[in-house]
Amino acid sequence: MLAQLSILLAAAPIGICFWDASGTCLQLNDTFAALNGQSIQAQLGQPVEQMAPPALALLAENVRAVLATGTPRIDREVSGSTPSSPDLRHWELSVYAVRSREAGIIGVGAVVVEITSRRRLEAQLLQSQKMESVGRLAGGIAHDFNNLLTVIQGCVNLAQTSLEDESPIGADLIEIQRAAARASGLTQQLLAFARKRIMSPRVISVNRLILSVDTLLRRLIGEDIELETRPDAELDAVRADPNQIEQVLINLAVNARDAMPQGGKLTVETQVVASVGSQQPGGEGRFVLLAVSDTGAGMDDETREHAFEPFFTTKEVGRGTGLGLATCYGIVQQHSGTISIYSELGRGTTVKIYLPLVDAPAERDVAGDAANLLPLGNETILIVEDDESVRNLAARVLRALGYRVLEAANGEAAASVARAYLPAPIDLLLTDVVMPGQVGTQVAANIAHIYPGIRVLYTSGYTENVIVHHNELDAGVAFLAKPFMPATLAQAVRQVLDGRDVVEG
Ligand SMILES: Nc1ncnc2c1ncn2[C@@H]1O[C@H](COP(=O)(O)OP(=O)(O)OP(=O)(O)O)[C@@H](O)[C@H]1O
Ligand SMILES: [Mg+2]
Repeated sequence: MLAQLSILLAAAPIGICFWDASGTCLQLNDTFAALNGQSIQAQLGQPVEQMAPPALALLAENVRAVLATGTPRIDREVSGSTPSSPDLRHWELSVYAVRSREAGIIGVGAVVVEITSRRRLEAQLLQSQKMESVGRLAGGIAHDFNNLLTVIQGCVNLAQTSLEDESPIGADLIEIQRAAARASGLTQQLLAFARKRIMSPRVISVNRLILSVDTLLRRLIGEDIELETRPDAELDAVRADPNQIEQVLINLAVNARDAMPQGGKLTVETQVVASVGSQQPGGEGRFVLLAVSDTGAGMDDETREHAFEPFFTTKEVGRGTGLGLATCYGIVQQHSGTISIYSELGRGTTVKIYLPLVDAPAERDVAGDAANLLPLGNETILIVEDDESVRNLAARVLRALGYRVLEAANGEAAASVARAYLPAPIDLLLTDVVMPGQVGTQVAANIAHIYPGIRVLYTSGYTENVIVHHNELDAGVAFLAKPFMPATLAQAVRQVLDGRDVVEG
């Protein structure tokens, strides 16, 4: 029985240690030994002061106190890191006296139970309860306020119509109207945070959505910031209101821009993830991860903890209202998703949004739908481009739009790819003009031997080359200037396939 018990204790996932009356270690198990990263052997026979791991800084003090008084100390919470994990961990430490009838206190035992994951879940629960109640408050105020604004705006309009021309009150009324419009914008954001905005969700493609806002984001962030759009998720259908997800992307891009006053890089990417993990409120299932990362100033812990709260801002008065992330939070919640921030001061920021993946094809060609502004296709396209990153980008964009894509790094490779693909059709050749080896026009001629009548779209970063002379194109040639945006590429490809002329200079 005793032998079995000691086997159980040795293997227990809780740390156990025993000291004699002088505070010298007599027994400890693996879990306890691991706390300061030394072997059991190295710690046996040591006084408690020598073996207290940094995480249990108060261990020796507690052991000595229990030895002196006999009063146990139960469930003391201790926190720290250990040699094996630099992250902050939490334990409950209990120290109690061990007595014999004859000799009184003969030693002290300690039991250490790790509660790190429980603490994390508690913190998450607390945070979401807080957001919930702030949301209810904000939603209530916004709702009433909206009604008041309707009255204010209506009355101003009435007053304006019955106003005589040149009346000095006219200018004041316009100011009232402007202020009311600003207030109404704020209430809309508050309603979004409180998840009270009206949604019109449909099944959309997240990849297409990020491609279609590419141009808009570029305009928002300005020229000093590079934008990389990576529609990498192989499945990307989610049930969402595209205008609201677009709003989320805009808010995040604006924050990123503000965090990179000296320039930097903004990356918008998608991925399929199997599960958000049981640590996250999103739970199990498959999700589309939409990640927005910047290389900017980053956030300290304090800012990160409060960032989603409405009206929390570190920006000077007049520059930020603190509603950007609150709006994102509300929108993502309303979509049954989760949103979280990873950031370190000086190391940039990544905001990750998980939206539940749906098992249905994205709807197409719904009028007014931001995700469907980009023209799609299912034709086969051969890309010939010696610059690997440009080729990858074009291929990724076109695949996300539904095309089948073949790739080659030069004219010779292109010819063998094309021959191997026979007799299946290739509808379009997208070729760089200036490349080592065959130039674009030669590539086109060779491929036309294999695929007579194939349509050709040339791209180049040089304004003067074999097909562009003095900024003028040869007649009947479709040309797309580099660098091109995903949206421009999508449009140019569609136009050439549909037999329309393209001149994108
Ligand atoms: N990408 C980021 N990098 C660094 N800090 C950020 C980033 N995004 C948000 N923050 C921090 O979080 C705070 C809250 O962001 P939020 O978008 O909610 O409000 P805001 O940008 O200050 O104002 P608003 O968006 O209403 O104009 C910001 O003031 C900033 O301190
Ligand atoms: Mg903001």
